[in-house]
Amino acid sequence: MRQLLVEAPAKLNLGLEITGIRSDGFHELKSIFSTVSLSDSLTVSVDPGVSGIKLQCSGVASPDNKTNLVWMAAEAFLKAAGISENTAVTVSLHKNIPSPGGLGGGSSDAAAVLLALQKLTETRIDLASLGESLGSDVPFFLLQTETAFVTGRGEILEPVKLPDFHCVLVHSGENIPTPLAYKLWDDNAGDLTEACRISNYTARKFGAWHEGKPFPVKLDNQFLPLLRSRYRGIDLAAEELSRLTVNWGLSGSGPVLYALFRSGEEAKDAEEYLAGKFPWVLRCQSR
Ligand code: C5P
Repeated sequence: MRQLLVEAPAKLNLGLEITGIRSDGFHELKSIFSTVSLSDSLTVSVDPGVSGIKLQCSGVASPDNKTNLVWMAAEAFLKAAGISENTAVTVSLHKNIPSPGGLGGGSSDAAAVLLALQKLTETRIDLASLGESLGSDVPFFLLQTETAFVTGRGEILEPVKLPDFHCVLVHSGENIPTPLAYKLWDDNAGDLTEACRISNYTARKFGAWHEGKPFPVKLDNQFLPLLRSRYRGIDLAAEELSRLTVNWGLSGSGPVLYALFRSGEEAKDAEEYLAGKFPWVLRCQSR
């Protein structure tokens, strides 16, 4: 048996604009994805000579069956590599990243499994297309870069360098499945004003983050006005975060929101202020 212990980081969307809808129903977007120190951990083992997939989960509730992206990633890898009949895969997943959260937890777990299986089986397959078929955020996590300007459905990636930040994440208590959030956008996109569109990122021109200045990336997220008017928890979290700083936003299609700070002390104060007001509040930082 061969075994690897791997870490699967969460990401924040530092701004998110939906730029169009594709013929397959997926949406084109523009966003900056930035990994943070919050992560899931996975132990991935392969046993040659036998077959089957086993998944054990601990931590934040997560299904230990075929509906988990971890399982799907293992199955897709074994099939693509042509080794399903003679390789068994066991994954122990310890989940810290809430799901759904808008933090890419499931996609990050899937990418971690694909990367681990490639190493363990020494099989070279095209992970990028496999990743894309599993989920729109998987290609970003396969890249193993801290920060990227992301376009297309999520598969066009340009690594960028941003200033380091400390952050506080807040779960608004709402349960918002991603497809529902996109459907809301489809049904209401006409209501969005130009003002909440993100201007083009000038990806290589991010300046330093000076005292008292806003974070050098616009953190507007087009899902926010839609979700804020429909989900009380999102509205409350947005209100509380905006009291603390101008540097706050919604990650993905929620339900987690975040606030960015220059120092760990500011983040700690914010965490103390928010603790108890929401079901889950966590301080972490950029990688
Ligand atoms: O790819 P992923 O599994 O994250 O997508 C979940 C759902 O979110 C999709 O079925 C689709 O409804 C929506 N989605 C989308 N466009 C994207 C990403 C997700 O429409 N770029």
